Amino acid sequence: MRQTKEFMIEKDWWKRSVVYQIYPKSFLDSNRDGIGDINGIIRKLDYIQKLGADVLWLCPVYQSPQVDNGYDISDYTQIAEQYGTMHDMENLIQECKVRGIKLIMDLVVNHTSDQHPWFVESRKSKNNAYRDFYVWRDEPNELTSNFGGSAWAYDASTGQYYLHFYSKQQPDLNWENPKVRAAVYHMMNFWIEKGISGFRMDVIDLIGKEPDRGIKENGPKLHDYLKEMNRQTFGAKHLLTVGETWGATPEIGHLYSDEAREELSMVFQFEPMNLDKQPGKHRWDLKKLDLTDLKDVMTKWQQSFASSGWNSLFWNNHDLPRIVSRWGNDGPYRERSAKMLATLLHGMKGTPYIYQGEEIGMTHAKFASIDDYPDIETQNMYRARIAAGYSEQEIMHSIQMKARDNARTPMQWDERENGGFSSVRPWMKVNPNYHTINVFNNLADPNSVFYHYQKLIALRKEKAIFTEGTYELLDRDHPNVYAYKRVMGDQELLVVCNFYEQSAVFQYDMGQVRDIRVLLSNYPNSPIQLERFELRPYEAVIYEIKK
Ligand code: GLC
Ligand code: CA
Repeated sequence: MRQTKEFMIEKDWWKRSVVYQIYPKSFLDSNRDGIGDINGIIRKLDYIQKLGADVLWLCPVYQSPQVDNGYDISDYTQIAEQYGTMHDMENLIQECKVRGIKLIMDLVVNHTSDQHPWFVESRKSKNNAYRDFYVWRDEPNELTSNFGGSAWAYDASTGQYYLHFYSKQQPDLNWENPKVRAAVYHMMNFWIEKGISGFRMDVIDLIGKEPDRGIKENGPKLHDYLKEMNRQTFGAKHLLTVGETWGATPEIGHLYSDEAREELSMVFQFEPMNLDKQPGKHRWDLKKLDLTDLKDVMTKWQQSFASSGWNSLFWNNHDLPRIVSRWGNDGPYRERSAKMLATLLHGMKGTPYIYQGEEIGMTHAKFASIDDYPDIETQNMYRARIAAGYSEQEIMHSIQMKARDNARTPMQWDERENGGFSSVRPWMKVNPNYHTINVFNNLADPNSVFYHYQKLIALRKEKAIFTEGTYELLDRDHPNVYAYKRVMGDQELLVVCNFYEQSAVFQYDMGQVRDIRVLLSNYPNSPIQLERFELRPYEAVIYEIKK
């Protein structure tokens, strides 16, 4: 019975899916402790189903001391108490199934928590059976932690240093040790047997590290490890696997996602997300986005994956600032710009990901005090930059624009206290604009950002051209408009987006057409005469053309 069912699943179902990402801590608190939880998620599955997303990516809910909000795992097969129990988790998997929603989990295996029994053992003595589960050296080298400072921490009990590419409480696993790899695969199979449909692989491009040669990302054995993982776990099971790969170029993206290589379904690449920082500097060093840069980078990735491999499409996640406040307009054009950005992305080829709150156009809170930004990365950076002599004002500005906390304020459900997220004081401050920006209001307004996303998802499900059509950039040098077309046989989609608040003129010669109609727009009465099309602020239209 089970086998026939699995047999019927299409191998690349994830090419036609839309993923909704949940950051459990900030989604919905069901038991009044100020922290989101699994039962809170279960209560909102109907909402996700209404949106139309058919995959749910759940950020880590495993047992963890929560130094990095669950990305520091102390037991991979237990659920963190604050999120619920294994029974709740099984319930969630079941309730997703009932609604035709597939669940993918976060796989955090570059490092564990320092409270994980493997590390507790490892640090006991140099000849402990788990010593080589981690990376120990007599002397540190120049490698740095992504959360600031050296990547090496001294451990007095054995007089050696261990490697940590994130916080000291997140020691790096030693992937060169076959026992580590076997233990990870065993754990992955545990979750696959529980009925999950895939993994989002946290900083997976670091597992091939060769610290003695100063190699952090994209180490020489990375792809061998992934091939081995594929064979030993999800390979034959048609799961969705997506690697988080900050350093991926299109060439590297192919190494992961070309089907013949049998590694992953796709990766998250971050090239667009680096366009608004000063080159060679950290993302806190702000720079205005140049639209042409964005067109070039998006187009490069669209074209490089035209015939093999696969793209993911995203503007947001729990590590990125919110797109409306970042590249849209969180003032008078909030809804228009949120819809424009959604249209621009969801018209492309790849699997779209929506991060909680994006579908209602949530914005940055712009809190005035550093105390309202609890993230460990933000806190470390703040202290380091104060010490380095930056002005408080400049640092706070960067934080209000770029901190990961911007994505982590609690989900805004309705007008009730704390935005309906919790009836007690939440772990992190709610954005005060929850009185107007919330799910309740979105559902009540047929023109809301929510329904725009719902329509984009429905269109993708309805029309194969969204998944299969080729991509071609139009009018690259237009300073305000991002336009492109998708082509499949005699069908075309034309996506035209005014990226800014000023109106803009776009001119397009369609050639011979049998039929043109507006599939979706963020304004009423968008014209179908495109010889000279005057776009209103942030106007975004998808046309369907038959030739
Ligand atoms: C990834 C996660 C991030 C986490 C880091 C360390 O980048 O998305 O939230 O802090 O890895 O696990
Ligand atoms: Ca709770």
